[in-house]
Amino acid sequence: MEHLKNLLDSIPIAIIAHDLNRRIFYFSRYAEEITGYSREEVIGRDCHSVFPGGFCGSKCSFKSKIVVPSLSKLEYNIKFIDKKGNTKYLEAKVVPIYEGKKIYGVCAVFEDITSDIINEKEVEKITNFHGIIGKTDKMQRLYAQIKNVAKISVPVLILGESGTGKELVANTIHKLSPRKDGPFVAVNCGAIPDSLIESELFGYVKGAFTGATKSKKGRFELAHRGTLFLDEIGDVSPAMQVKLLRAIQTLTFERLGDSKKIRVDIRIISATNKDLSEEILKGNFREDLFYRIAVIPLKIPPLRERKEDIPLLVDHFLKEFAIEFNMDIPEISHPAMEILKRHNWPGNIRELQNVVQYSLVESFESSLGVIEPIHLPKYLLEGQVDHDIVIHKKQKPRKNLDIEKVKEAIENAGGNKVKAAKMLGISRATLYRILAKHKQK
Ligand SMILES: Nc1ncnc2c1ncn2[C@@H]1O[C@H](COP(=O)(O)OP(=O)(O)OP(=O)(O)O)[C@@H](O)[C@H]1O
Ligand SMILES: [Mg+2]
Repeated sequence: MEHLKNLLDSIPIAIIAHDLNRRIFYFSRYAEEITGYSREEVIGRDCHSVFPGGFCGSKCSFKSKIVVPSLSKLEYNIKFIDKKGNTKYLEAKVVPIYEGKKIYGVCAVFEDITSDIINEKEVEKITNFHGIIGKTDKMQRLYAQIKNVAKISVPVLILGESGTGKELVANTIHKLSPRKDGPFVAVNCGAIPDSLIESELFGYVKGAFTGATKSKKGRFELAHRGTLFLDEIGDVSPAMQVKLLRAIQTLTFERLGDSKKIRVDIRIISATNKDLSEEILKGNFREDLFYRIAVIPLKIPPLRERKEDIPLLVDHFLKEFAIEFNMDIPEISHPAMEILKRHNWPGNIRELQNVVQYSLVESFESSLGVIEPIHLPKYLLEGQVDHDIVIHKKQKPRKNLDIEKVKEAIENAGGNKVKAAKMLGISRATLYRILAKHKQK
């Protein structure tokens, strides 16, 4: 008998067995290990009084102490709380123990599958949603919202701080929508002077104003059968808001200087980094226009609220730059990554993208291919906020060496950038810096 017990204990399988009154009479060594309970604590006791909620939880066949007669062989997963309070997932096989033809008790053989379940949950998380990078719950929610709003042609208002990816999200909604084969036309309402915005949006006919030598389509017409992205909509003047409201409501408008009505089939997506409710209260934004464009609001979280995504984003940008610069994918050291994780990113993803690019170029000077803290912009190390200066000051290309000359040299060198740098008499780092600066604009 002792031999048999030793044998059972040597087999790396967790077993618990109890009689028909749920009195535990066997608990293997591996069962002790997985559950955290010792034999002394469980043997001879009612399974339900030892383990909170019973060992098998809701799946238990002995809940009411009445034996389920059909009990033959059961397999199920159990969510189990171990002695230390940790949640574990167990896969159990329950078999009856017979004494002759009569059931004497039950035996559960179980395995700890917690890590498999957790990995599965991790795998289910999307890390790259059509080019939008992020694995945090906030981003998972955003992906689900994007998928939903893409299907229907309702107006969406994207809200988010500067650099959070509003345009990227707008573009993704378009790409996943039934209008994907139509145009995606973006208008930065904040960047167009008030005097020009009307002609920019609705177009004009020849002679509409001095200088209108021929007719021109506006963005509303160009977006026909596609999506019109009205970026920085919070910056539109009150006068223009009225016109915009009318055009969005009816999807008809006239070109400047013409009375002919033009009707278009477009989906409107707008974006702003302003708090529009506040702008409404201040009298700067029309409430009726707000309700028209904000049928579905989509909020993009700032990077500081999803810092767990920083390593993923850094990795993504490093790969992107490596492909663009035709070089091996650089690495980033642990201390450098820690600095990036600590920063608060007021400029969000765009700031991170610039920092990665800047540091990559800086890293060429010393340790080729590994970004160290020393390669990061100084303001990150000193905790300052004024980052623009650093990025731009450092990346100033040499006098008389513009991008065209660099491109020409690369072409003459058959695409070999090291050779091109030699031909130009500059270091490889400088060549990359010029390419990087050009790309940044
Ligand atoms: N989640 C993301 N994954 C990968 N790249 C991103 C992500 N979010 C933004 N980007 C990149 O960051 C840059 C800034 O994004 P985008 O222009 O869409 O931001 P924005 O919110 O429109 O900024 P702004 O308010 O300044 O106009 C772009 O190059 C974009 O591709
Ligand atoms: Mg934008």
